[in-house]
Amino acid sequence: MTRDQIEIVLIAAAWSSGVGVAGVLLAWSQRHRSLRVQTAGVAVVAVAAVLAGVLGTAQAMFLSAHDFEVVVLVAAVAGVVGVLVGGAVGTAIARRSRSLREAAYEFGHSGRFVATEGGPAELQELARELAQTSERLDESRQRAARLEDSRRELVAWVSHDLRTPLAGLRAMAEALEDGLAEDPARYHRQMRAEVDRMVRMVDDLFTLSRIHAGSLQLNVQPVGLTDLVSEALASADPVARARGVQLAGHVEPGLELNADPGELSRVVSNLLMNAIRHTPAAGAVRIDGRAVPEGVEVSVLDGCGGLSSDEMARVFDVGWQGSAARSPDSGSEAPGRGAGLGLAIVRGIVEAHQGRVALANESTGCRFRIVLPG
Ligand SMILES: Nc1ncnc2c1ncn2[C@@H]1O[C@H](COP(=O)(O)OP(=O)(O)O)[C@@H](O)[C@H]1O
Ligand SMILES: [Mg+2]
Repeated sequence: MTRDQIEIVLIAAAWSSGVGVAGVLLAWSQRHRSLRVQTAGVAVVAVAAVLAGVLGTAQAMFLSAHDFEVVVLVAAVAGVVGVLVGGAVGTAIARRSRSLREAAYEFGHSGRFVATEGGPAELQELARELAQTSERLDESRQRAARLEDSRRELVAWVSHDLRTPLAGLRAMAEALEDGLAEDPARYHRQMRAEVDRMVRMVDDLFTLSRIHAGSLQLNVQPVGLTDLVSEALASADPVARARGVQLAGHVEPGLELNADPGELSRVVSNLLMNAIRHTPAAGAVRIDGRAVPEGVEVSVLDGCGGLSSDEMARVFDVGWQGSAARSPDSGSEAPGRGAGLGLAIVRGIVEAHQGRVALANESTGCRFRIVLPG
């Protein structure tokens, strides 16, 4: 570069930077204005910087008066074109941002975001983010609706399930009072059984409400699975015998996991009682414990003959019971007959332990499987 050229660059840089600084200050003072004004402003500053450089070099006698005039005219025309293009670009972006704003407004009112394509990358990203938020919102709304439905059903069922035994108790108490009972001892036994069942139900409701409120206190400690399963089998044995159901179990030796022993026993005994109740006489129920990659698996296989996919989708719902469970002949003395809360409690307790439950049909019946982290 010749000395002259270096001098021109330095002079032009000094004058243009002056305009640049003024441009930055101007842009900052106008930063809340519309995009159209701001993009047009960028074009004005660019042309003004060229003019300032030209003016500076003309003063340093590098340009003749005639050349200077020509350059100023050309720059003025270029400035007009720049402002028009800048304005047009700004208008397009502003239009896109307006349509996005309208979609967001709709989203706020109807809860649905209808995404439209196009526009600058940043606005597209914003639109995608809003569409995902809309999906998440939709999912949580559906979840809330399902929960609300199951609560409503639960209240209806629980009030039915409490009213029936209460009416029975009242009738039996009246008969005893009037001395009309032929076999008072049987009445007493039956009243006791009804009261026990109601106590269990209220207890289950209480547990479930603690699970839902997230206030279930887990007393986690190392638990030997072999002992826990043998105890559950021992306490289920009389019921299984009475119903002619064969009980068997196998746990891999030395299997241990961290869990609340009381709550885990409740899970296992709920599953065993259900399995026994849904297995016909001479059928078999078996429980297995084994190590799996995720931790420890406990599964209970019964002889229920399989569940339909519709039933499988609902068994864990609060308050849901298969049609047989509510039929009058299932009898209030049927062992473990509850109010459809047992499996909801199982799932709640297992999930509170960061575990999961699953259900699958097998040749003779269905297998309820729980997996807990080891
Ligand atoms: N082992 C099982 N085999 C077949 N069906 C089952 C089994 N366990 C539960 N179910 C079905 O799931 C329903 C809900 O079970 P649960 O929540 O324990 O309530 P409950 O025992 O009070 O009926 C039962 O009424 C029954 O229809
Ligand atoms: Mg049950």
